[in-house]
Amino acid sequence: MTGERIGTFIQENRTFEPSEAFRARARLRSREEYERLYRESLEQPEAFWARETADLVFDRRWTELLEWNAPHARWFVGARLNASVSCLDRHLTTSRRDAPALVWESEPGETRTLTYAELHAEVVRFAAVLRSLGVVSGDRVTIYMGMVPEVVVAMLACARIGAPHSVVFGGFAAEALRDRIEDCGARVVVTQDGAWRRGRVVPLKATVDRAVAETPCVEKVVVLRHLGEAHAPAERHARDVDWHEAMAAADPGRGAPESVDAEHPLYVLYTSGSTGRPKGVLHTTAGYLAGAHVSTRYVFDLRDDDVFWCTADVGWVTGHSYVVYGPLSNGATVVLYEGAPNQPDWGRFWRIVDRHRVSILYTAPTAIRAFIRQGTSFLEQADLSSLRLLGSVGEPINPEAWIWYHEHVGRRRCPIVDTWWQTETGTILLTTLPGATPAKPGSTGLPFFGAAPAVVRRDGSPVGAGEAGLLVLTRPWPSMLRTVWGDDERYRKQYWSEIEGVYFTGDGAHRDAEGYFRVVGRIDDVLNVAGHRIGTAEIESALVAHPAVAEAAAVGRPDELKGQALVVFVTLKPGHEPSEAMRGTLAEHVGSEIGKFARPDTVRFADGLPKTRSGKIMRRLLKDVAAGRESTGDVSTLEDFTVLAKLREEE
Ligand code: PRX
Repeated sequence: MTGERIGTFIQENRTFEPSEAFRARARLRSREEYERLYRESLEQPEAFWARETADLVFDRRWTELLEWNAPHARWFVGARLNASVSCLDRHLTTSRRDAPALVWESEPGETRTLTYAELHAEVVRFAAVLRSLGVVSGDRVTIYMGMVPEVVVAMLACARIGAPHSVVFGGFAAEALRDRIEDCGARVVVTQDGAWRRGRVVPLKATVDRAVAETPCVEKVVVLRHLGEAHAPAERHARDVDWHEAMAAADPGRGAPESVDAEHPLYVLYTSGSTGRPKGVLHTTAGYLAGAHVSTRYVFDLRDDDVFWCTADVGWVTGHSYVVYGPLSNGATVVLYEGAPNQPDWGRFWRIVDRHRVSILYTAPTAIRAFIRQGTSFLEQADLSSLRLLGSVGEPINPEAWIWYHEHVGRRRCPIVDTWWQTETGTILLTTLPGATPAKPGSTGLPFFGAAPAVVRRDGSPVGAGEAGLLVLTRPWPSMLRTVWGDDERYRKQYWSEIEGVYFTGDGAHRDAEGYFRVVGRIDDVLNVAGHRIGTAEIESALVAHPAVAEAAAVGRPDELKGQALVVFVTLKPGHEPSEAMRGTLAEHVGSEIGKFARPDTVRFADGLPKTRSGKIMRRLLKDVAAGRESTGDVSTLEDFTVLAKLREEE
């Protein structure tokens, strides 16, 4: 490997050109072509977005592209449309009608394929079911399901009747689910008996039962029987509606799409921020759909005959944009896998690629690093010749992982797109553009169309090439979040007030002389553990809710596999003693309050936490302690130096 070590990263200085074979049929073939379109997207956005969204279905055209009343944007002003029509109905009159829309495989090996015509019919019926339950345009519906075809049906059915969906990742615990249902005031929850994960069943319905016991807003719970009698939920309540019975009884005549305003809410998706309360990121219809549609087409160089597998769960934004809205609005075939990558062994992903002839694979660096540990024998047993493009998302990809992905999965044939974006940005904003620009391992790449990123100092002044700074977006973009559900003040403060006049991403980055961005990671109180976004404040409030805990602080520690590992420092209340058992109890407690994916990797006990004189916990010092580093920064504001010394002694 060439280059020097920076932190846990090896700097890789090579650049990788797309192969001639790929370039020859790519949509964009040179940096000049990219530059021309990029300039147009900023200088003549009306012409750009009109042309690039010409294949989406608008019932009424927009009169103005953007109304910008900072920090509030309205895009495609005056347009009317329904997102599900662009994802489904529009394909019914083309050759895509009988092409597979969803190809599903479960951990135990069941498979099912739905063509566009079949998926459309299911969505129409489920839209009718929701209407029969009294759901009307504007009502929120929480979806708490696994990776089954019906989760896509439920999302698109919500979109069809204008009811914003709020998908909650099936790994969240009952309390976290309850908070999210309550915050958006959902009238209906859609769930299933359970879903497969690591050879076991995740009991989704039972968790919903616990959550809705405390959410009076919920009137009905629709339950899909997915696993059969052996796994039937123990309880059936008066509010429960059986998915299959309701579908059989539904009148498809009631499943017509509602034509909504461009700015009608499409979904609310909760994500972590700097306080204990999760934020409901609101995305609206036309701008979001336009962003998802156009980015999928260009970033993945998507074609009708592509088999697209984005391995993210639909409970995260990646699943919304690149399992559902992006690929389906483009008429691609989407692979859904309900299960873990190591079931029954670490060859599962490669057999899925082989079996379904996947041509585009989009996954997270954490998964790639886990595969590296297993060696290459699993890869060698599968035929991966169908792959033509690879993608990475969710966290910085370290160059070692990039090179491995390139050599062993892409067999040096497939371009890799490293895509940077956020729940808030809705769609990819920084990326490699395959065919047009060479890839630099570890750098995400150039701005996507319509995005205006910059790297600045705290005072908003731009830094020089190669200099580290804060990543901001200096202009609104179509798929941007519109607000935080029910808390516009938080939206203004969090995103638009940190740095005057621009959107603050929370990420640190630098840009090289060729304009490539390298995003280094969060610089706020948000952690990225195995590609999952976790707020330190959420972890801390879960911990202090435990009767033994007096005070807690959560920080990240660099981790070779997960990117960051979660370390918590805890001071116990009098009468409670540090012990191995207490460690386990507290880790378990966080798991049961938030979800297993948020369980701390390390629990450390402390007599006191390092604080400033005004009582603020000095996280920077804790991060150093967690990483086993000396603290180099200023410690003059530290109230009690012995606290720090003690923490180090306990290492
Ligand atoms: O820190 C960045 C990191 O993930 C954060 C967004 O997390 P979330 O809203 O959960 O969305 C994840 C899927 C888009 C960002 O603020 N991040 C995402 N993609 C990359 C990344 N960091 C570096 N490189 C990326 N490609």
